[in-house]
Amino acid sequence: MTEDVKTSISIAVAHELAAQHGTPLYVYDPVGMRSRAQELMGLQVPYGLTVRYAVKANPHPKIVKMFSEEGLSFDASSSYEAVQLLEQGIRGERISLSSQQPAHKLPELLQAGVKFVATSQHQLELFAAAENRQDTVGLRVNPGIGSGFNNRNTTGGVGASFGLWHQYLPQALQFAREQGIKIDRLHVHVGTGGDPGKWGDILDAGLHIAEQMPDVTSLDIGGGFKIAYMDGEVEADMPLVSELFGQKLAEFAEKTGRQLLLEIEPGRWLVAHGSVLITEVVDIVDTGTDGYAFLRTNTGMNDFLRAAMYGAQHRIEVLNDINEQTDYAVVGHNCETSDILTPAPHDPEGIGPRKLNRTNIGDLLAIYDTGAYCASMSTKGYNAYPTAQEVFI
Ligand SMILES: Cc1ncc(COP(=O)(O)O)c(C=O)c1O
Repeated sequence: MTEDVKTSISIAVAHELAAQHGTPLYVYDPVGMRSRAQELMGLQVPYGLTVRYAVKANPHPKIVKMFSEEGLSFDASSSYEAVQLLEQGIRGERISLSSQQPAHKLPELLQAGVKFVATSQHQLELFAAAENRQDTVGLRVNPGIGSGFNNRNTTGGVGASFGLWHQYLPQALQFAREQGIKIDRLHVHVGTGGDPGKWGDILDAGLHIAEQMPDVTSLDIGGGFKIAYMDGEVEADMPLVSELFGQKLAEFAEKTGRQLLLEIEPGRWLVAHGSVLITEVVDIVDTGTDGYAFLRTNTGMNDFLRAAMYGAQHRIEVLNDINEQTDYAVVGHNCETSDILTPAPHDPEGIGPRKLNRTNIGDLLAIYDTGAYCASMSTKGYNAYPTAQEVFI
């Protein structure tokens, strides 16, 4: 069972870091991240496992270096991420590239040994025509099912533009044969943050497609392993999930005689819990007795977009020792009503006040579990606000 990793930061440490580095400030704790990497590298599946860190979750070079030291490989979601990884000294063979936009510098990336995954018929054709291409390639397929914590995080099914639609597989296979190319890697990423209980169905969908692809020797099931941001949420139990994967891969081998390597591409599960965003309460306003009390902070969507974009919920704590609590809505400093840090659950349109310690202007506030899709996915520079720094403790 994955240990409960409810991070918390002490008032004293937060103030010390804030005095040293200023706020807003991302504080990263690599210890938790590294132990999660070790846990994944220790997972047992029958015919081999490749763990690829999804760099887009948090491309901080120190995190990339740490995971490289732990033996992880990498998943790049753009050719620019792939180039960045190569520049950080990651060997091409450890990088898998699957992107919506056709790769810039494709010949150079192939020359460097980057494992290319075509995500459409067009990309397959570009690969076939590319200089330095190998005779093998990966193919991302939309299996027709999706799993995400909302439709904006679901990358499979009719509503998602990711991968080749599964019904067009025969044409792609025909084309590859004509070009003398073997499609030996199948990539199926169906979304992020979805119900951990769906992993069996997702692997079945992937194996069903692999069965139609005789040259496939590895199945990349993508990422999307859920973490618990709030109490009561169920976190993906990776030993349990990998056991299920193992059973299904063994059944597939029994049925087809094919022993597939499994690849996974976790991002969030590895880094989300390893960070807290420290911000300062710069003003407090309210909208009368029937309205809301708002804590204005010195961060917001220019550093942390998930709340405004998805209605995502993160634990928030006012770092003072006042033990009287009251309801506050917490907002960012950007001149946008959508810059709310406490939206209603999964509803960016709504306001979801939280019970927090009675607060004074100048108090520090902690936003937890901000290691993934926070510093890496924000409207940097909006309203010309300086970007939150990132420090490792
Ligand atoms: C292709 C691909 N792989 C891996 C991931 C990582 O997902 P997560 O961070 O939820 O594990 C994503 C994220 O959406 C993705 O698009």
